[in-house]
Amino acid sequence: MKTIESIQLAAKEGNTLKRTLGPFNLVTLGIGAIIGAGLFSITGGAAAHNAGPAVTISFVIAAIACTFAGLCYAEFASMIPVAGSAYTYSYVTMVKFMPWIIGWDLVLEYAVGAATVAISWSRYFVKFLHNFGIDLPPSMTMSPFDTATLSDGSTVTGMINIPAVFIVVLMSLLLIRGTKESATVNNVIVILKVAVVLIFIALGWGYIKQSNYDPYIIENTGTFGEYGWSGIFRAAGIIFFAYIGFDAVSTAAQEAKNPSRDMPIGILVSLVICTVLYILFAHVMTGVANFKMFAGQDGIAPVALAIDQMGPTNADGTVTPAYPWLNNAIILAILAGYSSVIMVMLMGQTRVFFSMAEDRFLPDVFRKVHADYKTPYLSNLLFMVFVGLFAAFVPARVVGEMTSIGTLLAFVLVCMGIIVLRKTKPDLPRAFKTPLVPLIPILGIVSCLAMMFSLGFDTWLRLIIWMAIGLIIYFLYSKERVENHEQ
Ligand code: ALA
Repeated sequence: MKTIESIQLAAKEGNTLKRTLGPFNLVTLGIGAIIGAGLFSITGGAAAHNAGPAVTISFVIAAIACTFAGLCYAEFASMIPVAGSAYTYSYVTMVKFMPWIIGWDLVLEYAVGAATVAISWSRYFVKFLHNFGIDLPPSMTMSPFDTATLSDGSTVTGMINIPAVFIVVLMSLLLIRGTKESATVNNVIVILKVAVVLIFIALGWGYIKQSNYDPYIIENTGTFGEYGWSGIFRAAGIIFFAYIGFDAVSTAAQEAKNPSRDMPIGILVSLVICTVLYILFAHVMTGVANFKMFAGQDGIAPVALAIDQMGPTNADGTVTPAYPWLNNAIILAILAGYSSVIMVMLMGQTRVFFSMAEDRFLPDVFRKVHADYKTPYLSNLLFMVFVGLFAAFVPARVVGEMTSIGTLLAFVLVCMGIIVLRKTKPDLPRAFKTPLVPLIPILGIVSCLAMMFSLGFDTWLRLIIWMAIGLIIYFLYSKERVENHEQ
């Protein structure tokens, strides 16, 4: 079985990747992976259905939980600066099938997460074309579980989300060609994304209507999760999706110039910057438009809707948009931003499965590298189909919540790993130490579990079924292969 020392040694001796990333690039890498559909798409629905304007409080709650988990990630990343992230860290717990559990669980974070962002991409893409007078048939842009009301009042049910499949295929093919997102391209996209957020906040601030905040915490309907404090917590579990990605910084450990010092900086600074931006953004969004407006079809491209609400109010209560030009520019930036998130997630997925196949948990097809492109092309193709199917036929909310619950589970296990490692290897050098152990990891575990419990029963059921399938595969297939390989 792999040990922490053997992992550290292999990383030192077998590192063929170039160490080019400094602290600035690591922070932008984090922001590039973090800001995406969670903010620009999911916030609208969470405000409309769960938290109202108090979705800002949900962002604070999720940020606190992520900071606890981020501090634990930072210790691991500074100590075991290798590419596999949570999957590799789990080896330190010495529980034989723990790496399998985490690796299998990470499919929910990366592959299902990519599908979620692809569906959100599709919504903005449809909106963008609509602004130019091109309307795709609604049944071709939604899953069979989605419905939309047309302008004539009739209702249409979706069949397949073709734009979402398109972006998954496009990003997968780019990854196969080895189009490695260079730090420069990433920096440009990050500047675009941060600019969108800042412009939105700056222009929207003056059009905030105090009446939209009254009351700030909407009275609970009597059902758990529908407004009130339970709604705020439920929304925290949902918009937690917006913070996913800071852990992706840890997958670049072997490309960092000084990983022990800079990994914690990359993880924690990107998290802090995004938290501040998110709270201000949500504040403006629910200030310029009433939270109820984000329900239904329009809630799917909420930023576009909010921009249309920035402007002077007419006598009949309608608003004349002050920045009609802004809409298309911002949608384009959002589309570019989502594409990079999808790419990072698909890449993270194939990297994790690559490591798992190297350790024999998975068949060799996942570590087969293309002779010319040097990319795990078969794995890319398989995930293109898998993610494409989710993107085509599953509603955004379902895949979004599956991503959140899967990632939260990974965070819980990483926090536990820190406690275990302080007991089993107290003397190992740690460039960054999580403060107040075991308090911080315990708070991380409790807060992530709380957000998990705030998610719906159906999401839990999907998690349980997914993990049960994983255990069956482990015991029927992986266990023996791994044991034979280790001998
Ligand atoms: N945090 C990333 C997003 O919101 C996954 O798209």
